[in-house]
Amino acid sequence: MALYSEVVMDHFRHPRNVGVIEDADGVGEVGNAKCGDIMKIYLKIEDGVIVDVKFETFGCGSAIASSSMATEMIKGKPLADALTLTNKAVAEALDGLPAHKLHCSVLAEEAIKAAIKDYYDRHGIAYDSAQFPDCGSCEHCHV
Ligand code: FES
Repeated sequence: MALYSEVVMDHFRHPRNVGVIEDADGVGEVGNAKCGDIMKIYLKIEDGVIVDVKFETFGCGSAIASSSMATEMIKGKPLADALTLTNKAVAEALDGLPAHKLHCSVLAEEAIKAAIKDYYDRHGIAYDSAQFPDCGSCEHCHV
């Protein structure tokens, strides 16, 4: 059996939403302490809805495929929905990731959360900090 699903290979070869949003409303950057890979997510938000999202990922194929899929999953969605996106859902949408690559999808979840938190912070919007667990305490990631 192939190590990577067709969906992973498709998103790796043709990643969606790659790039930068210059006037982004929220930007989140996370890194993986173990492999040194970095993921950055840019959000454009209007009336609480993610109207545009772009990413830059300096990392492995699984991290690139995860970013691509995750951005597709939150585009056009309300912030509340994007906040509930889990790395498990991203990995499932990719038709699975090898067990030793699951941590790569964690970067996508964390980067999206970090970008939403940045948006809230910039705009003085109150939020429950429990929604944003400290990335530094995560087993895999750190900011
Ligand atoms: Fe670094 Fe996948 S090995 S994020």
